Amino acid sequence: MILVYSLGGSILAGRDAQSLKGYAQALKELASEHRIFVVVGGGKIAREYIAKARALGASEVFCDLIGIGATKLNASLLIAALEKNTRQEIPDSYAQAAALSAPGIVVVMGGLSPGQTTDAVSAMLAEYVGADKLIIATSVDGVYTADPEVDPSARKYERLTHAELADMAMQTDMKAGSRSPIDPLAAKIIQRSLIPTSVVLGKNLENLKRGALGGHDGTEIRPE
Ligand code: UTP
Repeated sequence: MILVYSLGGSILAGRDAQSLKGYAQALKELASEHRIFVVVGGGKIAREYIAKARALGASEVFCDLIGIGATKLNASLLIAALEKNTRQEIPDSYAQAAALSAPGIVVVMGGLSPGQTTDAVSAMLAEYVGADKLIIATSVDGVYTADPEVDPSARKYERLTHAELADMAMQTDMKAGSRSPIDPLAAKIIQRSLIPTSVVLGKNLENLKRGALGGHDGTEIRPE
């Protein structure tokens, strides 16, 4: 299978070297049987640097470029942890990512262009390489009716259709203070190509496999 992972920056940041090795090991094992692509997010470091740059009067597009830099910094750590099972370069395009892929190799990339997030990059990469599954491995264990950190009555969806996911991503983004687990552009891309997608808690290593093959307790996005 061809698998694309969107790995939230918070999943990698804060891990010590040994723990990063463990994460890399799980990806290596998957790469022995599948073609694996991982798009790494910016996490805390992106938020901190963007906040400071904005306070200094930087433009939004400049802040996005800082965010992209942070995603590449996090991607570099994963590349270091993967050693020989990856390429020592971060692709700057979908074509480059596809060209770097080979059996046993985990292709790792970060952000690409301003105005989006790495979820959108992972969705477009999934389209580009014809992925069998997109796994959004994030800091929340699925898609909820509301932000579970803000609303204790929020319920997790076991399943959503692509249209439902896109509707939710659009609405959530418009409400002040609420966050969508998937950005609206990513949700639209996932919808237009009906990409089979799962949203799982990324810090749980088993979820890397389960997100692809099933048996996780996150949210599955399917056409029906
Ligand atoms: P992330 O993909 O990590 O954004 O990119 P996020 O969803 O806000 O973060 P997580 O999932 O909680 O970790 C960080 C920032 O980098 C810029 C955006 O400003 C984004 O908010 N970025 C990233 C881009 O402009 N383009 C990209 O392709 C990727």
